[in-house]
Amino acid sequence: MAIPRLSSSSAARWLDSPERYGWVSQALHWGMAALFAWQFTGMVLRLLLGRTPVTAVMVGSHAPVGTLLLGLVLLRLLWAWGNRHRRPPRERTPAGRAAWLGHAALYLLMIVIPLLALLRHYGSGRAFAPFGVPLMAASDKLPWLMAPADAVHGLLAWLLLALVAGHVLMVLVHQYVWRDGIAGRMLPRRRKGPPSGPG
Ligand code: HEM
Ligand code: HEM
Repeated sequence: MAIPRLSSSSAARWLDSPERYGWVSQALHWGMAALFAWQFTGMVLRLLLGRTPVTAVMVGSHAPVGTLLLGLVLLRLLWAWGNRHRRPPRERTPAGRAAWLGHAALYLLMIVIPLLALLRHYGSGRAFAPFGVPLMAASDKLPWLMAPADAVHGLLAWLLLALVAGHVLMVLVHQYVWRDGIAGRMLPRRRKGPPSGPG
């Protein structure tokens, strides 16, 4: 019967499969990419233009948006772990291993960058309520907790931006040079024509 088949395949679309990422992984990937674009655009405009009304809004939301990104990356890791046997498998080739290492480095930086910044904020002793949620109360200053982010928060963030540029470049190479259709794994399924087979 058609109905059970249709409902089970559409239910499965929110989970990953060996052919493509499901819509939860895609929403996390593209939603976070948009928030990272907001963070970096704000900081680049601040460096280029100094303090203007636009940069004030973007930089003013930097700490809450960065905190949200930390929450989202932890969710994303949990989701990736839960889908580890379903999602597109790691290829056992040098290129596949390089891609895995690149993704692991992206995850590491996505965690370390906001985490160090939050520790610095805590060490500053100032209260912090991202989006109105009281996360830190005012307390004593702890300079040793501020030192790591003072030393490397910006540096690691620019390194992340460079890695993202490399990531996008590799997606373009896959799409237009190797033409292996890997970009389509992180995009919604096309609805053209009748289904031609499983997957
Ligand atoms: C993953 C999220 C984040 C990214 C990608 C990011 C990125 C950046 C970038 C590119 C800069 C500019 C560095 C420079 O001027 O050379 C910066 C500075 C800054 N960020 Fe973030 N940030 C994130 C999270 C946070 C969080 C959660 C906080 C606070 C709780 C924060 C607080 C600051 C502060 C205070 C500065 C200016 C001082 C400094 O450069 O260290 N950031 N961030
Ligand atoms: C225009 C920007 C971007 C494009 C076109 C893009 C494209 C893609 C594509 C096509 C994949 C699937 C690759 C595969 O199946 O092997 C992917 C995976 C991935 N991307 Fe991106 N991406 C972008 C931005 C970002 C950003 C900003 C980050 C993080 C800072 C990121 C982190 C990842 C990670 C970690 C994966 C592995 C799958 C996962 O765990 O979610 N991407 N990306």
